[in-house]
Amino acid sequence: MNDRRAAGEPGEKRKVTTAELKRMKERGEPIAALTAYDHTMARLLDEAGLDVLLVGDSVAMVVQGRETTVSVTMEQMLYHAGLVAAGAERALVVGDLPFMSYQVNADEALRNAGRMVKEAGVEAVKVEGGEPICATVRRIVDVGIPVMGHLGLTPQSIHKFGTYQVRATEPEEADQLRRDARALQDAGVFALVLEKIPATLAQEISASLAVPVIGIGAGAGCDGQILVTHDMLGIYNRFRPRFVRRYAQLGEVMVGAFQHFVTDVKARRFPSAAESY
Ligand code: KIV
Repeated sequence: MNDRRAAGEPGEKRKVTTAELKRMKERGEPIAALTAYDHTMARLLDEAGLDVLLVGDSVAMVVQGRETTVSVTMEQMLYHAGLVAAGAERALVVGDLPFMSYQVNADEALRNAGRMVKEAGVEAVKVEGGEPICATVRRIVDVGIPVMGHLGLTPQSIHKFGTYQVRATEPEEADQLRRDARALQDAGVFALVLEKIPATLAQEISASLAVPVIGIGAGAGCDGQILVTHDMLGIYNRFRPRFVRRYAQLGEVMVGAFQHFVTDVKARRFPSAAESY
């Protein structure tokens, strides 16, 4: 049976749309977003009621074990995005365009955004950067693909920043960020991620824009919040920024379960007769 029931029916699983996210902002209803990289996790997140699943290029760090996000390829992002899109019945699925898949020129960006939608089945794409990429954003939006912006600590620029410290603490960078946010909205983004910037600045930008602002390390004044799922579950332990709240210590639970299995196998306690044929 198709679980996507019509609006208003009991147990409906109507897809969250970009228009719905805007209405949520207008109603003052916070948007809950997390990252997803595979089908099983996407189903669990969807069941839990997430509004947005981001197939983030953070997959490079939390799944592939890389130091930064810059190495992940378009083909790898398409693979992960396809798994997530197939698992999410309700949440809006956004696919990150990886580093250098949209910066060279607008034609290439458009082709890659199109692949995300056509081949992976996501409903929107995300790009990092401000004024310099607005013409590209407009091209993508003009063909009907919703684009999410991302400003502040943009991890694809980590080698330029040289540090993961909080951004836009100085007036000049804060002013540029205000201009970038306004320019992205004018270029047609449906939402904006603000990462690791002062809470007062994020609140001001959220209040000044019509499109929803989703914060990560940007304080409580945003229209929604996003975290990397592996961080909030306590699975990824390589570093832990202050903005990450641990909702579970699954890393410890998993290691405990693995150890239990090892002990059982070594002691010949597994499998039992009931677990055999
Ligand atoms: O790649 C990612 O997970 C992201 C979020 C941190 C917003 O861009």
